[in-house]
Amino acid sequence: MVHAIPEGQAIDMRNLRKVFGNRVAVDDVSIQIFRGEILGFMGHNGAGKTTTIRMLLGLLAPTRGSASILGYDIVRESLAIRRLAGCRATGRPAGMIQKVTLAQALINDPRVLLLDKPTAGLDPLGRHETLELIRDLATNHGVTVLFSTHILTDVERICERVAILHHVRRLAILRLTSTHCFCQNVASALKSVKADAKGGF
Ligand SMILES: Nc1ncnc2c1ncn2[C@@H]1O[C@H](COP(=O)(O)OP(=O)(O)OP(=O)(O)O)[C@@H](O)[C@H]1O
Ligand SMILES: [Mg+2]
Repeated sequence: MVHAIPEGQAIDMRNLRKVFGNRVAVDDVSIQIFRGEILGFMGHNGAGKTTTIRMLLGLLAPTRGSASILGYDIVRESLAIRRLAGCRATGRPAGMIQKVTLAQALINDPRVLLLDKPTAGLDPLGRHETLELIRDLATNHGVTVLFSTHILTDVERICERVAILHHVRRLAILRLTSTHCFCQNVASALKSVKADAKGGF
């Protein structure tokens, strides 16, 4: 069953939380992604990016919170989601393996792509081709893309917005207008976290 979803919205995460034993991997993450949008997903090692993506794919059950993809609930309707979403599972393969796994993600014309570091380990040409492919899918075919990366220039090239996780929480969603502005915004967002931390963040 497809649920009513706000016009133009493809992915809706609400207060997602995941705890492994006594380790909080993702805490209270809420992010909305529009149809045909490419949202960059950044954050330091261990910030919770892969865990979030695995929850969206129904591979991990959220401890709390909820999310839907094109109206399908990630817990109750994960099979439907896996039919309509392509994913490039986590890991750090390089070169050819990377390209093959991306190609596999595109089988069945996915309407949503959840990509975990799709450009990691690629040479410059491979990176360029991968980014252009993602851009083409979103721009010309309306595919919605969430992709994690540590490479700032990747998001600058193909994203209008980037969500940043910081210590398992959503720190900010920034609109990319210029590199300078982006770096300034990240810096000021991090400063505000430090200020919050004094107050118990
Ligand atoms: N299966 C698991 N069991 C226990 N802890 C886990 C498990 N998976 C992830 N974690 C922990 O959850 C936190 C978030 O990990 P996650 O892999 O989601 O981060 P990430 O943002 O993808 O990092 P990276 O940039 O290195 O890929 C980390 O502290 C990690 O050690
Ligand atoms: Mg990861």
